[in-house]
Amino acid sequence: MTTLIKNGTIVTADLTYKADVLVDGGKIVEIGPDLKGDEVLDATGCYVMPGGIDPHTHLEMPFMGTYSSDNFDSGTRAALSGGTTMVVDFALPSPEQGLLDALKMWDNKSTRAHCDYSFHMAITWWSEQVFNEMEEVVKRGITTFKHFMAYKGALMVNDDELYASFQRCAELGAIPLVHAENGDVVAELSARLLAEGNTGPEAHAYSRPPQVEGEATNRAIMIADMAGVPLYVVHTSCEESHEAIRRARMQGKRVWGEPLIQHLTLDESEYSNPDWDHAARRVMSPPFRNKQHQDSLWAGLQSGSLSVVATDHCAFTTEQKRFGVGDFTKIPNGTGGLEDRMPMLWTHGVGTGRLTPNEFVAVTSTNIAKILNCYPKKGAIMVGADADIVVWDPEKTKTISASTQQSAIDYNVFEGKEVKGLPRYTLTRGRVAVVDGEVKPKEGHGEFVAREPNGTVNKALSTWKELTAPRPVERSGIPASGV
Ligand code: URP
Ligand code: ZN
Ligand code: ZN
Ligand code: ZN
Repeated sequence: MTTLIKNGTIVTADLTYKADVLVDGGKIVEIGPDLKGDEVLDATGCYVMPGGIDPHTHLEMPFMGTYSSDNFDSGTRAALSGGTTMVVDFALPSPEQGLLDALKMWDNKSTRAHCDYSFHMAITWWSEQVFNEMEEVVKRGITTFKHFMAYKGALMVNDDELYASFQRCAELGAIPLVHAENGDVVAELSARLLAEGNTGPEAHAYSRPPQVEGEATNRAIMIADMAGVPLYVVHTSCEESHEAIRRARMQGKRVWGEPLIQHLTLDESEYSNPDWDHAARRVMSPPFRNKQHQDSLWAGLQSGSLSVVATDHCAFTTEQKRFGVGDFTKIPNGTGGLEDRMPMLWTHGVGTGRLTPNEFVAVTSTNIAKILNCYPKKGAIMVGADADIVVWDPEKTKTISASTQQSAIDYNVFEGKEVKGLPRYTLTRGRVAVVDGEVKPKEGHGEFVAREPNGTVNKALSTWKELTAPRPVERSGIPASGV
C-alpha cells in the first residue's frame, strides 16, 4: 500500500516548492504534481519537511545514582508527537565497563523504539581495551564518541585521555563529541558554595559560570586540532563557548556547535524561583543563561557558526530531583524537551523571523544528518530517502502541558508556553505515527541506523593534515659534524 502526501509545500534545507510526495515500502518513491496513491494525507496549508533528528538524548540512562525516567518507549513517542523521527542516544559504559558490553545494554533498551535511532558511544575511561574496542564499535555503525570534560570522579576524562581518544577517532574516521565544562573548576566551586551554605538549586548555576564552558570548549578545539580530527561540541549554551567555536570555524577548523532548545528559550531567572521544585527541575549542565547568551546562540544559528538544535533530553521526576534537597550537587542533572523542540523552535525561531523555514529544517534535521553521515537516507525529502516526514501545520496551536505530554515525568520545563506550528502528521519510515496530535504507537518499529566512518569532512581534514604534517627537510648534503 502506498501513502500519498497531497497538496503540501515541500520545505528542505535549500528549497521550498509545491509538490506531492509518494511513499512506498518506507521510502519516498516519487515527488511531483498530481500523484496518485492508496492512503491519502491532506497537506493543504502545510509544510512537508524532513522529520526532526535529535542527536542528543539520554533514555533510561544510569546517572547520578538513578536512571533517567524516559525510556525508548516514552522517549520516542514524545519525539514523534513533536515531529522528531530519529534520536541519537548515548551508550554510556560505567568506568571499567567495556564499550561492547555497554552497547549490548543499549541494544536491549532500544528494542522498544517507535522511531529510528542511532547511538553515540561515550568514552568514560581509557585503557588498551577501550582503544581496541573503539574499532569494533565503528564497525557496528557507531562513528561518534562522546567525552565528558565535567562530572569529576564519575564520567570525566582528563586531557591525556582526551588527546589519546581524539587521535584514535582520527585513525578510525570517527568524530569526537565533547561535553565542554572544566570539571576541576566546577568541583572546586561546588565545594566552596556548599561550605558557604549555598545548598539550593540556584547554586548549581553559580558553580558552572560561562567561563568553565568557554575554557573547556577552547581546550577541546585545540586538542582536536592537534589530533587532526573534527569536533562536535554538545549543548553550547553561552557566548564564551560560541566564541571559541566561531573563531575556530573562521580559521578553517572543522568544529560544530549544538545549542539546545532549552538554552535558546529559557533563562537563568528560572533558578531564582522561590519554589525549590521549580528550580531543581531545571537543573542541568550547562545551566540556563541570561538574555545576552541566548541572543548569541540565536545569532549563531542565523550566521551558521552553530549548526544543530538538540534537546539533551534527560528527564528526571520531581521525586528524583529531590535527591538533592540540602545539597544541590545531588540533584540529578538533566531536563526534557524531545516533544517540544520542533514546535518551540518554530514558534521562537520562524515565528519571530529569526530563522527561515529552510534554516529550521537545516538545524533540526539536515545538518546533523550530514555531520553524522546518514544523509540523504535521513534529513532529506528526496526520492530514495527514508520516509521520515513531518507534515507541519504552521497555524496549529497548543499550550504545552505535562498533563498531555508523552514523557513519563510529572512536569514540563516549558509548562504553559503557547506554541504555533505543530505536526499534522508524522511519518516514521512511511508509517503514519501521529495524526493531529494523536500518537499511534508501535513499539519496536524503530530500526538502528548504522553509519559509515570517514565522512567527507574527516576525509578532507585528514588529507589536509597529511599535507601539512611535519616532515624532514630534504638536503643535498650534510656537513661533517665537529670541526
Ligand atoms: O545536565 C545534563 N546535561 N544531563 C545529561 C547528561 C549530559 O551532561 O549531557
Ligand atoms: Zn552533557
Ligand atoms: Zn513552578
Ligand atoms: Zn547529554
